[in-house]
Amino acid sequence: MAPFHGIARRCISGPLPTRRPASRRQRARPRDRKPGRKPRPRHADSAFYVNLGPALDRVISSYRVDPVRNPYAPGAGQRPPELAGRDHEIAQFEVVLERIARGRPERSMVLTGLRGVGKTVLLNTFRSMAMQRLWGTGKIEARPEQSIRRPVAGALHMAVRELAPRHRAPDRIDHFLGVLKSFAARDGRGAKGAPVTQLGIDVPAVRGRADSGDLEIDLTELLTDAASVAADLGVGIALFIDEMQDVPAPDISALCASCHELSQNNGPLIVVGAGLPHLPSVLSASKSYSERLFRYVSIDRLDRDSADVAVLAPARREGADFEREALDALYEAADGYPYFVQAYGKVTWDVAAASPVTARDVGVAGPVAASELAVGFFGSRYERATPAEREYMRAMAMLGDDPVPTAQVAEELGRKPSSVSPARDSLIKKGLIYSSERGLIAFTVPHFGRFLRAQPT
Ligand SMILES: Nc1ncnc2c1ncn2[C@@H]1O[C@H](COP(=O)(O)OP(=O)(O)OP(=O)(O)O)[C@@H](O)[C@H]1O
Ligand SMILES: [Mg+2]
Repeated sequence: MAPFHGIARRCISGPLPTRRPASRRQRARPRDRKPGRKPRPRHADSAFYVNLGPALDRVISSYRVDPVRNPYAPGAGQRPPELAGRDHEIAQFEVVLERIARGRPERSMVLTGLRGVGKTVLLNTFRSMAMQRLWGTGKIEARPEQSIRRPVAGALHMAVRELAPRHRAPDRIDHFLGVLKSFAARDGRGAKGAPVTQLGIDVPAVRGRADSGDLEIDLTELLTDAASVAADLGVGIALFIDEMQDVPAPDISALCASCHELSQNNGPLIVVGAGLPHLPSVLSASKSYSERLFRYVSIDRLDRDSADVAVLAPARREGADFEREALDALYEAADGYPYFVQAYGKVTWDVAAASPVTARDVGVAGPVAASELAVGFFGSRYERATPAEREYMRAMAMLGDDPVPTAQVAEELGRKPSSVSPARDSLIKKGLIYSSERGLIAFTVPHFGRFLRAQPT
């Protein structure tokens, strides 16, 4: 443990000590000048302060790793203290926004990647970019077996509310809201049969548009109308769909068809998606032209330089630093996965006594962070699996970390492929595994195989 650890901990956990102001009497008669006492030579004072300097410096620098000011943020969709390594994607999205606003044909973007690589964070960043350009924006998070009709209605309601105060023709807005009301009302029941709540639209429903009951027709009409409201203002509308792989198959097909229709008319509306790595195959299974509608952007782990930026930039803003060896150790532990970078960074900061943070600090933090991940990141997902599904995943883990042939998993379990396919299918539905290629299966969660191999059987 670093020297001054005790002092540092005491200092950093409480407020900085304050001095009581000297009384007038004390000010008038400093200690050195007490009657009968010889004045101390001035150089004695300065020597004292010179020696005190380094000691104070160490205490003050340890204050820089105050746990209260820990900048790292392992979470879901939580904006990181530094969005590292995504400049290219951000620049690409700038171009998409600019081209669509100018009525140029442009494919929208779909972000794909494993769990915790930062898809939601990037989607939210894209949304902020659109908002900065005064676009109307709305976002939904798809859920398995839930129609997108109601969530899309809610998101477009929000998008148009953002535009309404700037629109010169309130009756155009009211007309759109009336269409939106009819569109939403076609969905008789909410998720799991719950009665639907009203959207809070207080204009009369407009009958005969976006209310046929056929989602493809209705969505096309609704998106076209939304785009034309935005076009009046010279801006666009961006609809963001997170966990897009969970959109039910008929709804994906309707969504692709309406995006296709809209792209032919150059309407200023884009659908930007994010989801697991098999999302492109979900989309192309639904509509063969989907790869001409969307540009798939794979979001991966951070390279070494970006991972260092993700750690260092927030630390330096707090006045702290990391030794080179500490960064080496962090990269080895987190393997560049953004969620792990935040998780290991957070615990390391809490453990470190002083700046610069050392490799030893990372060494102490490693097992603590790993056990937090085992409970939160891995354990919570493992808990969601049935015994048969757990058995399937264990067999996958025993075969290594690369995508494995499904036939080989069945062989590992000593079973026929057909008898294990229900477990495989439900794991795919739960988003724990995905089919990376025909006949191959892989974990959606990075390092999940490693976690399973470490579990007692
Ligand atoms: N570019 C980045 N730099 C640093 N940290 C990041 C970056 N992107 C994401 N993070 C951090 O990683 C964590 C996971 O991000 P996010 O929730 O966006 O991942 P995700 O891909 O959407 O995961 P899931 O598939 O589970 O929804 C968050 O704590 C976030 O702060
Ligand atoms: Mg996400």
